[in-house]
Amino acid sequence: MNALKNLVGWVDDRFPLMAMWNDHLAKYYAPKNFNFWYFFGSLALLVLVIQIVTGIFLAMHYKPSAAEAFNSVEYIMRDVEWGWLMRYLHSTGASAFFVVVYLHMFRGLLYGSYKQPRELIWILGMLIYLCLMAEAFFGYLLPWGQMSFWGAQVIISLFGAIPVVGEELAIWIRGDFVVSDATLNRFFSFHIILVPLILLGLVGAHILALHEVGSNNPDGVEIKKKKDENGIPLDGIPFHPYYTVKDIAGVAGFLILFSLILFYAPEMGGFFLEHPNFEPADPLKTPEHIAPVWYFTPYYAILRAVTIDIGPLDSKVLGVMAMGAATVIFFALPWLDRSPVKSIRYRGPLFKTALTIFVIVFFILGYLGTQPVTPLFTVMSQVCSVLYFLFFLLMPIYTKLDKTKPVPERVTFK
Ligand code: HEM
Repeated sequence: MNALKNLVGWVDDRFPLMAMWNDHLAKYYAPKNFNFWYFFGSLALLVLVIQIVTGIFLAMHYKPSAAEAFNSVEYIMRDVEWGWLMRYLHSTGASAFFVVVYLHMFRGLLYGSYKQPRELIWILGMLIYLCLMAEAFFGYLLPWGQMSFWGAQVIISLFGAIPVVGEELAIWIRGDFVVSDATLNRFFSFHIILVPLILLGLVGAHILALHEVGSNNPDGVEIKKKKDENGIPLDGIPFHPYYTVKDIAGVAGFLILFSLILFYAPEMGGFFLEHPNFEPADPLKTPEHIAPVWYFTPYYAILRAVTIDIGPLDSKVLGVMAMGAATVIFFALPWLDRSPVKSIRYRGPLFKTALTIFVIVFFILGYLGTQPVTPLFTVMSQVCSVLYFLFFLLMPIYTKLDKTKPVPERVTFK
């Protein structure tokens, strides 16, 4: 024990080890009323680690070439010891990542966590979200199945519709006239090094920014406003051991659900691993129905909802713009929300109704994005897309008009 103490002391004289431990864990005071919704940040960290570790093992056996990629994945699944587990952990982990991150973002909406002074935490979170989408898109090409190939083909060719530069741009992205070996190689490089590096940097910044201002909580009360004589927030408790232990309970619950899917339904009926992807990529055979993985489908539905051309911009380009706007508009939330209160607990009926409609619309769009185009579904996507954007665009009005309840001085705790 003494040897350990001495070692820590030796390091501490040369590196701010205990200072970091205290700043971020033992003396980081978090509100004592965290609930279920506060599990998802630490769970996102857990899934990030799972993805990196399993990704390292997959990269040991995967071959990033059009001739070998598909077979190397089959080889991992059948012949590499525990290869099936690494692959399923990684593919199920990708979907789990989005489940966890969507719930984490929804918590932000519930409790107004994006509002002042946490705008930067939110912006960094949104950059993380965009990186995650890029990471998933690049990763999906790697198994070189039918859906990998045709999914990438569809998305990259959208750039081709941009006036004047589009065609050149699409060729530049692919490195070829069609999705090919060159495309696979660059996507591999982006997927295993470029995007993960950016992601890790952003996650570090996200947590630093959080610890600078302190966590929000289900009451939306700023605990730093009421401190005791030692400067410790009256409603705060040290993150370690209280929340490290609580988060372990969250991890246990998550791992139970994750294992059930991993071991009993890794394809999740075609939602996590799409059926056409069990066939090798064939540039001469377009699958009957091309759809992205579930976490992209709300945006895909918005893309397809645009069916008109305006001047030189055809519906494809306008669709891409609408899809881009649908993601980017989240960045503006801290400035669109004019409510004097943060938490949904003290908001009025207008915000509650708007948020409920938004969530329903997001699910409907998600469903429509998985389905083949029909006239009825197109109209439904159009209506839902309009409602989607109205949630944001009308926010300054309905959050201002809404009848809020008084926020308590201290956090409420049952
Ligand atoms: C790899 C992905 C991510 C990781 C590892 C991560 C990690 C974390 C952690 C550990 C916390 C503190 C614990 C908690 O409040 O749950 C947190 C808080 C927060 N995150 Fe994330 N996050 C990620 C993505 C995002 C995204 C995509 C957004 C939003 C666009 C976001 C917005 C926030 C906000 C607003 C808070 C403060 C919440 C509050 O105090 O109420 N995060 N994040």
